Amino acid sequence: MPTLKCPSCDLPLIRRDHGWYCDNGHQFDRAKRGYTNLLLAQHRRSRSPGDDKAMVQARSAFLALGRYQPLADALLAGLEDEEPAWLDIGCGEGWYTEQIARRLGAVNGIGVDISKFAVDAAARRNRRLTWLVASGARLPLFDASQQKVFVLFTRLFVDDIARVLQPGGELVVAGTGEQHLMPLREALYDDVRQRRFDAGQFLDARFEAISTQEIHCQWQPESVEELRNLLAMTPHHWRAKPSAKAGIDRLFGQPMNAHFVLQRWRRFSDAETVAPDSPADGPHH
Ligand SMILES: C[S@@+](CC[C@H](N)C(=O)[O-])C[C@H]1O[C@@H](n2cnc3c(N)ncnc32)[C@H](O)[C@@H]1O
Ligand SMILES: [Zn+2]
Repeated sequence: MPTLKCPSCDLPLIRRDHGWYCDNGHQFDRAKRGYTNLLLAQHRRSRSPGDDKAMVQARSAFLALGRYQPLADALLAGLEDEEPAWLDIGCGEGWYTEQIARRLGAVNGIGVDISKFAVDAAARRNRRLTWLVASGARLPLFDASQQKVFVLFTRLFVDDIARVLQPGGELVVAGTGEQHLMPLREALYDDVRQRRFDAGQFLDARFEAISTQEIHCQWQPESVEELRNLLAMTPHHWRAKPSAKAGIDRLFGQPMNAHFVLQRWRRFSDAETVAPDSPADGPHH
């Protein structure tokens, strides 16, 4: 089981009965559903940060159709069946996390998301994984405690990733390519941006690129509902004009496509690098 760090005082947390405790008397209950909220009120920017319930439900419904399975397969194909300490940052409702756990084992795995709706849904998928509500910017984990870190369609908190990854440990990142959801974006915007994810824009000299893989898939949406869920789980849900969003139903009957960029990076040991200031921002669906 992973060793967690008390978010109040940095002592180790000990798992006991219905929660996690530190020697200074801080205590964090484990919800019935099987996750623990380690996000302190003073570290929350809003009452319920991260994805809201509707986004979580939309993502669950869409991912359950398996359209993005080719990405999950590519992700899993690059993993060996060892049992490393691993962490999925911004795990959402755990669709990928649960598949990673089947490959790498659940006992040393952690899913972290700042949205309690997301973690609440994720925790139902696998009771043996450690599911946490926490920020990727302030992980309740000790330095160099992780051998693999996954960041899928979530902002890269470079400093904390570098901190918790062991030297030689691996960072696996997924973002979207310039062709991603092209029919949807053409329906939403007059001017479609040709942006392509590259973690190299955010990572610094503490990381070395191992590989970049492109994954393309195409499918026929089965319903208008599917298109609406797809829209609701992406930032286009916030970005696009309401009038444009109302028009996506007419995409039904046409093929949809996804384009992903999957990258693997290695964490250098500090002796190998001089860490400069790192920018922090990141990829999105
Ligand atoms: C686009 S979703 C991706 C979810 C999942 N990785 C997937 O691919 O299905 C981004 C996730 O990042 C979470 N998130 C946003 N800010 C975060 C933060 N500061 N720390 C951890 N998670 C965060 C959101 O709540 C949301 O679940
Ligand atoms: Zn404490």
